[in-house]
Amino acid sequence: MPESNPKFYYPSTDVVERANVQEYEELYKRSIEDREGFWAEQAEQLDWYKRWDKVLDESNKPFYKWFVGGKTNIIQNAIDRHLTGANRNKLAIIWESESGTTQSFSYYALNREVCQFANILKSMGIKKGDIVTIYMPQLPEMVFAMLACAKIGAVHSVVYGGFSYEALASRISAANSRILITADGGSRRGKKINLKEIADEAMKRSPTIEVCITVKHNNLDVNMEAERDFWYHDLKSLPIASPKCKTTILDAEDKLFILYTSGTTGAPKGMVHTHGGYSVYTSTTHKMAFDIKPEDRWWCAADPGWITGHSYIVYAPLINGSTIIMYEGAPNYPYPNRWWQMVEKYGVNILYTSPTAIRGLMRFGDQWAERHDLSTLRLLGSVGEPINPEAWRWFYDVIGNGKCPIIDTWWQTETGGFMVCPLPITPLKPGSAGQPFFGNEIGVVDEEGNQVPVGQEGKLVIKNPWPGMARTVMGDDQRYADLYWSDYKEQGYYTAGDSAKIDEDGYIWVIGRMDEVLKVSGYRLGTSEIESALVSHPSVSEAAAIGLPHELKGHGIYTYVILNEGVTGDKVLQKELQEHVGSELGKIAQPEKVTFVESLPKTRSGKIMRRVLRARALGLDEGDLSTLEE
Ligand code: WTA
Repeated sequence: MPESNPKFYYPSTDVVERANVQEYEELYKRSIEDREGFWAEQAEQLDWYKRWDKVLDESNKPFYKWFVGGKTNIIQNAIDRHLTGANRNKLAIIWESESGTTQSFSYYALNREVCQFANILKSMGIKKGDIVTIYMPQLPEMVFAMLACAKIGAVHSVVYGGFSYEALASRISAANSRILITADGGSRRGKKINLKEIADEAMKRSPTIEVCITVKHNNLDVNMEAERDFWYHDLKSLPIASPKCKTTILDAEDKLFILYTSGTTGAPKGMVHTHGGYSVYTSTTHKMAFDIKPEDRWWCAADPGWITGHSYIVYAPLINGSTIIMYEGAPNYPYPNRWWQMVEKYGVNILYTSPTAIRGLMRFGDQWAERHDLSTLRLLGSVGEPINPEAWRWFYDVIGNGKCPIIDTWWQTETGGFMVCPLPITPLKPGSAGQPFFGNEIGVVDEEGNQVPVGQEGKLVIKNPWPGMARTVMGDDQRYADLYWSDYKEQGYYTAGDSAKIDEDGYIWVIGRMDEVLKVSGYRLGTSEIESALVSHPSVSEAAAIGLPHELKGHGIYTYVILNEGVTGDKVLQKELQEHVGSELGKIAQPEKVTFVESLPKTRSGKIMRRVLRARALGLDEGDLSTLEE
């Protein structure tokens, strides 16, 4: 057992002896000195219809291209190549609902499902490059739908099933999507949620949708509009849904998906990821950081609706031929042992989750985990926000029994995969994501781009291109260049929007976002989205949203509202406004508190000074107020 507060936690010899990567420093050095060589070697482990001509094309910075001239399709690696080898009859997906219903699919069965879905999409006229919007609970069909799009070269745009109709409608419109795939519902904490009803509301606002395919899951009575709405099971029984479908041969740089994420200003950005580089990057990071073995049962307890789910529930594990565990439901329903039951039942080897989930389960005490045999676990993982050392130690001691390294992965929707993370062999420090992944030079810099001294806070930058990087913001190349690549144009650095420190051992400690992005329970939300939702209420004239530390959620949302003339602020209206944001954006965005104010602190140019609000709320020094308007 480790001492109570050691500098390093060392991985156990069992873990080290079998690790895929036995050494960090040498390989890291090589991967930096010959980045293209390193990535070419990784790419060679995948199947290509045609090998690339050039690993990295830097001719039009910051619009980098990877594996240029290569012909591929992520499905060739995620499914097709498994069908001829040892993985054919291996389980690809084990799915369980909150109430304990299960379904499982071998790679062979997965292929049939994906082919059928792909043929249905084709029969609806979906072609290469079309954007298909997917709005679903965590069901196997959600994964089939994503993979079916990829197979025929269509681009999926998944909208998280917890988002409201407004958020769904704006994403459908931005993508000009003709087709929506949804379900008659999901369930959470024993309650059925009618997703189709929300989809109907969204479709009223999105004239581009011509066809909506609904998967039956909850047996709910839903409205089906003739000629627009189709049940998935009906389509599946038609001859069009043949279980054979050829995978479309694509260019490495063809689009795989867009995924919206929140930023400082304006509407969420649709980040674009592509087939070739993303396949290489996600599968390499997954295999090396989580030490994936053929016999492993891998559980990434995120939702496929977010980047973590895209990269590490769906694509990377399938490329690596893992058996994926999917669970649709709350971690603590009906009891706080629900997850530990799953780990025991399926013999999960690797569990990857978020600090919020860990904190949420930790508060129920150790006894819920202690009732279960968790000895199959070999590695644990964390993502989404900095993990507080207390939660880290609980996860390490109680869930991992002091023998499973915690792979704390720092990355973003924009990066496609892990950028900073330990390996199973590296000594760990609770709360630090460790060192850069291979091929990446990570800096913590000042305004001029100079590395700040050890222990000082600075901006986290990535100094090089990497294969998993987002290629652009959909439809807005300029925005992509401005948002991520303009702070240190001369040096060519990518700015992540996070602040961090580096310690004397070269370990990176991510502090948090520097912009107006909140991480609420690990979900990424922009203050501007919350403010627009508030202002869309007829009683509200102006609004400001800030994040304050929250014991479980990381950030809690606090809002300040100026009401329209003649409207009185009372408890009823406060509640109404909280719920209004919930229904505009989704439950996750519902503020903890709405405070009515007469005015908001603003700069002379009219920008809300959220840091002043934050400081006041926390009783801290308000800092430099010289730009504050009187
Ligand atoms: C934060 C999630 C500290 C960070 C994959 C980043 C983290 C944002 C970590 C991206 C971590 C993610 N430690 N902070 N291990 N992982 N973050 O796009 O602020 O939803 O910029 O991607 O989450 O959030 P996103």
